[in-house]
Amino acid sequence: MSSIPWSISEDSLDVNFSVPQLLRLRFTRDCFGADWENLLPLFHSDTGRARMQWWVDQSVADAQPELMPSIHRRLQEHRSDLELVSDIHLIAGGEQVKNDTKCVDHIFSTIERDGLDRRSYIMVVGGGAVLDAVGYAAGIAHRGIRLVRFPTTTLAQADSGVGVKNAINAFGKKNWKGTFAVPWGVVNDQGLLAKLPDRDFRAGFSESVKVSLLKSPSAFRFLCQHAKDIAARDWTAVMPAIRSSVLMHLHHITHGGDPFEMQEARPLDFGHWSAHKLEQITQYRLRHGEAVSIGVALDTLYSHLQFGLDRHDALSAVQALLDLHLPVYDSALESNTVFEGLEEFRQHLGGRLTLTMLKSLGHVQTVHEVNQQVMEQAIDWLSEIHAKQYALQPS
Ligand SMILES: NC(=O)c1ccc[n+]([C@@H]2O[C@H](COP(=O)([O-])OP(=O)(O)OC[C@H]3O[C@@H](n4cnc5c(N)ncnc54)[C@H](O)[C@@H]3O)[C@@H](O)[C@H]2O)c1
Ligand SMILES: [Zn+2]
Repeated sequence: MSSIPWSISEDSLDVNFSVPQLLRLRFTRDCFGADWENLLPLFHSDTGRARMQWWVDQSVADAQPELMPSIHRRLQEHRSDLELVSDIHLIAGGEQVKNDTKCVDHIFSTIERDGLDRRSYIMVVGGGAVLDAVGYAAGIAHRGIRLVRFPTTTLAQADSGVGVKNAINAFGKKNWKGTFAVPWGVVNDQGLLAKLPDRDFRAGFSESVKVSLLKSPSAFRFLCQHAKDIAARDWTAVMPAIRSSVLMHLHHITHGGDPFEMQEARPLDFGHWSAHKLEQITQYRLRHGEAVSIGVALDTLYSHLQFGLDRHDALSAVQALLDLHLPVYDSALESNTVFEGLEEFRQHLGGRLTLTMLKSLGHVQTVHEVNQQVMEQAIDWLSEIHAKQYALQPS
């Protein structure tokens, strides 16, 4: 008893404690080829071979027919250390995997059938939606199985891959069921992006614009300068943009003091109150990254109108999104329903409405209410920009 620092007579104890976490991020060019050896140290087992179950986004397997044979070959070569518990599972990608509860039920029953435990590995190769759904099941089964993510979209590599959130949609609402769980590892592989369709390729960079507006004027300038090169898939612009974005996200998670979002403000959700609602109103016609592009454009113009964000910077952000060939407006913004997104956003966090806006590049302002009239003015402004599709001349 003497080693316990509390008195047995105390009836109230408020004890602060923290748990060290380790998030392993690797950058590779050919993860199931030349770089595979570098990944092996990620997997170890105290009891023999590391048991692993694999999930691959069907569209990735279709787009890269050499992918599945490569994974099989690597596992076969290292069968003395790695045990594939069941054949690699293909899973339909896109938002449907988060909307259809049958998908996540199937993942759960496969985990159970394969007898995975907390020291097993669930390996998932796919877009953000597949990572979210498989991550959700991995976070819940046995209260958490080691999860290694191989993100295959720019959005997932630049943003969600290193995140500690997993979720599926429920009751018609985004991410209503979810877990916080630190992934065991994240492998950002350039080769996995090679066959990503242009639309998805570009969509991910709205999150890069978002995080750069919040955190780094120099990263923001880089994106403004290279947005067209990124849209044209020039790797010399693409890879630095992804790296700086993922590192800013990682830094926020590991050094921002609030990885599990216990506090009111969630700066990384800049532009997301409307984005989540737009995804829902448009029945996911808009990709998450496209909806975020509109949401970021909207809150950036609002930040100018309401909080004095420099006009040139605000319009540069909108221009960067346009140069990335991303939408900055959708007619769904005109429906008043979009403002319901504010209440849903509040409910998701609990407590009072808390949004992040920009005072200047890299400087945020936390707010608890939205001036609907000014927000409507920002919507009208975006509508004009969209109608004219002119090159903005920030001045
Ligand atoms: N957990 C988080 O912190 C977090 C953060 C941001 C976004 N998200 C979620 O991520 C999801 C969006 O993810 P996304 O933008 O990666 O899109 P996505 O996962 O919906 O993928 C888009 C489409 O591209 C396909 N695809 C994926 N990679 C491919 C490749 N390399 N080649 C060919 N096709 C490929 C998919 O099958 C899908 O049809 C949303 O559900 C969003 O809510 C989660
Ligand atoms: Zn997002």
